[in-house]
Amino acid sequence: MRAILVGLGVVGQSLLQMLSERYEELRDRYGIGLRLVAVADSGGAITKASGLNPARVLQAKRAGGLKSLGDGNFTDDPLGLIGELEADILIDATPTNIVDGEPSYSYIRSAILHGLDVVTVSKGGLALYFPALKELAAHRGVVLRFSGTVGGGMPAIEFGKECGRSDRLEKVVGVLNGTTNYILSRMEDTGQTFRDALGEAQRLGYAERDPTLDISGLDTACKITILANEVLGMGATLSDVRVSGIEEIDVDEVRAARERGLAVRLLGVADGRRLEVSPQTVGERDPLAVKGALNAVTFKASYSGSHTITGKGAGGPETATSILRDLVAIKMVRVAEVSRI
Ligand code: HSE
Repeated sequence: MRAILVGLGVVGQSLLQMLSERYEELRDRYGIGLRLVAVADSGGAITKASGLNPARVLQAKRAGGLKSLGDGNFTDDPLGLIGELEADILIDATPTNIVDGEPSYSYIRSAILHGLDVVTVSKGGLALYFPALKELAAHRGVVLRFSGTVGGGMPAIEFGKECGRSDRLEKVVGVLNGTTNYILSRMEDTGQTFRDALGEAQRLGYAERDPTLDISGLDTACKITILANEVLGMGATLSDVRVSGIEEIDVDEVRAARERGLAVRLLGVADGRRLEVSPQTVGERDPLAVKGALNAVTFKASYSGSHTITGKGAGGPETATSILRDLVAIKMVRVAEVSRI
């Protein structure tokens, strides 16, 4: 597989690390012999048709930037590369932008138009343009995978699809943001105010320095939009979600809920008609009442009942693993095609 990797933040760097540490295992066990023909960040891209060494790219990125690699060719137009280079797959690990989905949206669209399969962990482009991108991918016969956009390394999308395979899914309800869950569970357990719990989450590295997307509920809104499309077939975009965040939650409210055996959680809800993100109470023994930075998603099916998956919803190595999972899935699709010929 010849791959173009765009985005070298925490997840992109973790992927490089994994590719260098697990090269033989990925090749021998999963048949993924990934050749990185280009790697790009916001400063430009390095290309090399015979393949870049992931460990050396990582070292250069951490030392002085991609230009300092001393291997391959540098270009300051990474997007233009997609039509020029011979490649099979685009791996998009660019940051989430919910205003216009860029640069993820343009990378994904261009890759699909040039016949590349796509793996993305970036939520903005997908949440804003999901139905259009899926239709374009189907029309061009390419695979578009995005496991890491919901739940980090936890395979929430795959689990949900499996729950619905022989059943009928009615509803998806999820704690989909680790930062807000950390804040709410600290308010619950220690009596801290929202501001103090947020400060603690930032000090511990759970929350972004600018945690607006998390606490406003917009990060959860992106994730429930993606789940609603992929698992419930809703054909929705981010603007269809009614969103309220946790900024106004008072510690007294959290304490009063606890005294009644309830926990306040920021929930994303999709039921086939309605999409909503808001703080709600759940029973303290409900599987959604997870603590700390965990995520949990319940899929309610007509015949088999409710199924919940829980796990770490973020993190570099965790989300990089979701990229590898998607690469394995793409490999399986392509191998199945060849064996049908
Ligand atoms: N900021 C997100 C969270 C992680 O706190 O869950 C990335 O989706």
